[in-house]
Amino acid sequence: MDITDRTVLVVGGTSGIGLGLARRFADAGSTVVVGGRDTSRVDDLETVTVDVTDPGSVTRARDTVLAAHPDLDVVVTMAGVMLLEDLRDPAHAEQAQTTIDVNLLGTLRILDAFTPHLVGQGYGDVVTVTSGIGFLPFPIMATYGASKAAVHSYTESLRAHLVGTGVGVTELVPPAVATAGQELVNPNALPLDAFLDEALDLLTRTPTPHEVVVDRARALRWAERDGTYAELLAQRSRPLDALPSHGGDHTTDTPSSR
Ligand SMILES: NC(=O)c1ccc[n+]([C@@H]2O[C@H](COP(=O)([O-])OP(=O)(O)OC[C@H]3O[C@@H](n4cnc5c(N)ncnc54)[C@H](OP(=O)(O)O)[C@@H]3O)[C@@H](O)[C@H]2O)c1
Repeated sequence: MDITDRTVLVVGGTSGIGLGLARRFADAGSTVVVGGRDTSRVDDLETVTVDVTDPGSVTRARDTVLAAHPDLDVVVTMAGVMLLEDLRDPAHAEQAQTTIDVNLLGTLRILDAFTPHLVGQGYGDVVTVTSGIGFLPFPIMATYGASKAAVHSYTESLRAHLVGTGVGVTELVPPAVATAGQELVNPNALPLDAFLDEALDLLTRTPTPHEVVVDRARALRWAERDGTYAELLAQRSRPLDALPSHGGDHTTDTPSSR
């Protein structure tokens, strides 16, 4: 994928990986708009306010972006939340609903809003964002993993639907990256710049890969194929012991495997 001469919207680009990716596109020469609920954090890129859980907000953002940038040709669906859950406590349903609304339905709302434009234009790229956790669960983030597995499956179907339209579909599969508080609790999280260096090296190859899986994410992406799934899942289940319902002290829990 060329990143030097594109017109790009990164939804979920107001912080973290999305903002870092947006700046890489801009530094390479592309025109970039970042979207999110809180655009006040960004003063070096064009912004658009959007809440992916609100269909009206998504429609307004689409109309605003396409009016200013009728040549928009890359859409990145980066908006996501990463919430901890205790499945023995029915109150987790609130986190589960938010997670599905933002990560899964939010992604679908953005794709539905922009796919007709890209297909009508006859060229472009969609970049969806999953996680290593979509392929190997991290049980303390149960619905998060489910939402990302769903986005993976949906991405595969979307690619099939768009064959022959000139619109490519790529899935970014990050491992733990030192953003969104990970830098505070997870010593194994990959520094953002190191992640972006490797991810962009893969993304910019020809042909554009269907999946961008950096080295650190491969053990998760391919655990089932590699026969390491059960062992890794057991390791990644240990933080559950710190939950109050398991007799642990949740306040001292620092989940560290993403
Ligand atoms: N960091 C990791 O370890 C990791 C690993 C694998 C995958 N990922 C995925 O990478 C993506 C970015 O994560 P990150 O680490 O960069 O987290 P982050 O810094 O918290 O960024 C999340 C982005 O999503 C936006 N967002 C959240 N709720 C939204 C909503 N309702 N409407 C519109 N935008 C919304 C936020 O913008 P506003 O707050 O302005 O709305 C922000 O721009 C997520 O999809 C995440 O699941 C992250």
